[in-house]
Amino acid sequence: MERVFSNTRCTFSLLSLLLVFSSVSSFTNAKTHNHDFVVQETKVKRLCKTHNSITVNGQFPGPTLEVNNGDTLVIHVTNKARYNVTIHWHGVRQLTTAWADGPEFITQCPIRPGGSYTYRFTISGQEGTLWWHAHSSWVRATVYGAIIIHPQQGYSYPFPKPHRESLITLGEWWDANPIDVIREATRTGAAPNVSDAYTINGQPGDLYKCSSKDTVKVPVNPGETSLIRVINAALNQQLFFTIANHKLTVVGADASYVKPFTTKVLMLGPGQTTDVLMKADQTSGRYYIAARAYASAQGAPFDNTTTTAILEYKSATSKPIMPSLPAYNDTATATAFTTSFRSLRKPIVPTEIDHNLFITMGLGINQCPPKTRPRNCQAPNGTRFTASMNNVSFVLPSNVSILQAHHQGIPGVFTTDFPAKPPVTFDYTGNVSRSLWQPTRGTKVYKLKYGSRVQIVLQGTNIFTAENHPIHLHGYDFYILAEGFGNFNPKTDTSKFNLVDPPLRNTVSLPVKGWAVIRFVADNPGTWIMHCHLDVHIGWGLATVFVVEDGPGPMQKLEQPPPDLPVC
Ligand code: C2O
Repeated sequence: MERVFSNTRCTFSLLSLLLVFSSVSSFTNAKTHNHDFVVQETKVKRLCKTHNSITVNGQFPGPTLEVNNGDTLVIHVTNKARYNVTIHWHGVRQLTTAWADGPEFITQCPIRPGGSYTYRFTISGQEGTLWWHAHSSWVRATVYGAIIIHPQQGYSYPFPKPHRESLITLGEWWDANPIDVIREATRTGAAPNVSDAYTINGQPGDLYKCSSKDTVKVPVNPGETSLIRVINAALNQQLFFTIANHKLTVVGADASYVKPFTTKVLMLGPGQTTDVLMKADQTSGRYYIAARAYASAQGAPFDNTTTTAILEYKSATSKPIMPSLPAYNDTATATAFTTSFRSLRKPIVPTEIDHNLFITMGLGINQCPPKTRPRNCQAPNGTRFTASMNNVSFVLPSNVSILQAHHQGIPGVFTTDFPAKPPVTFDYTGNVSRSLWQPTRGTKVYKLKYGSRVQIVLQGTNIFTAENHPIHLHGYDFYILAEGFGNFNPKTDTSKFNLVDPPLRNTVSLPVKGWAVIRFVADNPGTWIMHCHLDVHIGWGLATVFVVEDGPGPMQKLEQPPPDLPVC
């Protein structure tokens, strides 16, 4: 699958020569990995039925990219499917390479059927697990895969070397064409149908019909320690994850190391990754690995099924032992987990702040204008679902990407008036007056000078229904200083900020009816979307964009757009 360009090889031998004379440096060891991704329709049989699923290279899940920190990836994507597609490298910082970030109409126009585009970027300073996925409509339901980032060559993990490594990618499966599911919901204004299964490495597992013979097996040897990389690639569902009878020691998340802590259960929002060490210290046998929903929205329908794989001790054949999982609405367990994270490496948290933003995030409903056909108003009481940040429901441009408009100075594509605070102050997590349920629509961005220090208070709301939102920022990792329930109160909550060892992540689980505070330095020029990683909410507008200007230095400027950048 991977081929190294011959000119890279030349550089290689030259560099190894140089190595004889100089000490080993990370730079001289960096490699370039070339891949071809062909997005195509592939027959995939799950839950007794075959669907023409969109895949990469006919693989579901798609290919795993395995690199070392410091390496460069060159991925040539060809779209042979009948939908628009783009690929996003979730969590990759993309320093000065925003053109390779991927979200459609934010950093590029979609790759049309028949088109192609080459993504080029370097992994810098990130180690652990990330992933890639389509960033166009609901194509990512089946177009996703893992990115494994090993330490730079010559460096090791900050924990004892595990005996083996395993990958667990959690997904979500519709026994239908997922693009039809979201198109239907967009037409009716109602919530889309929930999924029919969750999957582990593409397989639902023993508890679903027609699935047992393909259940994923994860082999272990007694006494050995495995590094297990867990990714939540589900479209719309936070998931609890556990392994029967085994303890999990968390060592990393979102490609940053954390101070190890031990737990029985993980909770991952879509977009998040967690790396754990697991010692095979139980009686030789077979144990279920299982995941099911953490569903925080009261009364909202969700897929309540359970996906499983089997942790299999060498040559064991016994009936697998089933773990117990937290209740679907067990917010206490979710919170105990998310508040256990501490950075391992000394963080550089900005202490002075240039932009202090307060952003409400939540759902909403729009009253349908008179004369709307009832079939297009299928949310409760003749409405359509919507969502917003600071009362702005984000609308994607359609003729040009925000990054192109910014780079080329094309007017009329976006406005720079995204508000730094909600237009009205209200009891966000209380009984919110109906008059505040209808946001305005717009393509509003927030501008940042290069190097500005940003704090964002993310405040959940109780509009229509409160729920946990996995909030993801492109182009950055941010520190999570604190989180809590109710309305954020600067007087009492600022003292709870962890400035010593806050975790560095790219996706924060915003607590249901609660808040979280994040900080980052705007040191990456480009246009970066921040959105809820529940895809159903992106479509409703739960997003905004930061436009970060170029800085004066050479590594502080957005590169020129690649010549093959797709046009709209
Ligand atoms: Cu993983 Cu904008 O997403």
